[in-house]
Amino acid sequence: MRIVLVGPPGAGKGTQAALLAERLAVPHISTGDLFRANISQGTPLGKQVRSILDEGGLVPDEITVAMAADRMAQPDAEDGFLLDGFPRNIGQAKALDGLLAEGGHKIDAVLDLEVPEEEVVRRIAGRRTCRKDSSHTFHLEYRKPRVEGVCDVCGGELYQREDDREETVRKRLAIYHAETEPIIDYYREQGLVSTIPALAPVPEVTRRALEALPHRG
Ligand code: AP5
Ligand code: ZN
Repeated sequence: MRIVLVGPPGAGKGTQAALLAERLAVPHISTGDLFRANISQGTPLGKQVRSILDEGGLVPDEITVAMAADRMAQPDAEDGFLLDGFPRNIGQAKALDGLLAEGGHKIDAVLDLEVPEEEVVRRIAGRRTCRKDSSHTFHLEYRKPRVEGVCDVCGGELYQREDDREETVRKRLAIYHAETEPIIDYYREQGLVSTIPALAPVPEVTRRALEALPHRG
């Protein structure tokens, strides 16, 4: 199954994507995690995008689409994947449709995580992210690590993302409304969107998301 997860920054996309990907046995592809891995490894791509991420802007489509296409072409993504943070505007959504069409494929479902803005701000303010792998995230209140400041999964140091500062979060939210929300209508016209009320404990949101997916077979 080829699934797109959409929702404002801090909605819980990464948290749900990791759980859903495991349940559905498809890779979790997060463009944010891919950019952050390039940044922490100091690759040329990482150097190119670092300041854009820190400031909460969007990386140009050309770079993002090429990186996502490369990841989706890996063997583990042949039969499906869960996209988290991509596409992020209409241009990327159309580019994705074009890429998939080349292989005779299409998006099967779009899950739109709906969370009130005050909650998004709370979730981001308390988020702590693993330096070794940014898909490992915790929360000071909602999902405490066993040892303070240390990732439960890999032992990496937990830190607050540069773009999680309040002012930058406001900018990311504005970009979300202006650039990303329109893709929900784009997919809605194709009958692909399920809205998932996501102001609930993590396992409950996972249950709702699984229930909303088209049944296979
Ligand atoms: P990206 O990493 O995609 O950031 P984002 O979309 O802003 O999403 P977040 O990672 O902030 O939040 P999330 O929804 O995954 O929430 P999480 O699960 O962590 O992108 C970062 C940057 O990369 C962009 O700004 C841009 O510069 C660049 N970029 C990426 N993709 C791009 C693209 N396609 N085009 C151009 N540029 C791109 O949860 C948040 C917190 O809440 C955590 O602490 C978690 O523990 C907690 N939590 C989660 N669920 C719950 C729950 N149900 N109850 C209580 N707490 C919860
Ligand atoms: Zn970790």
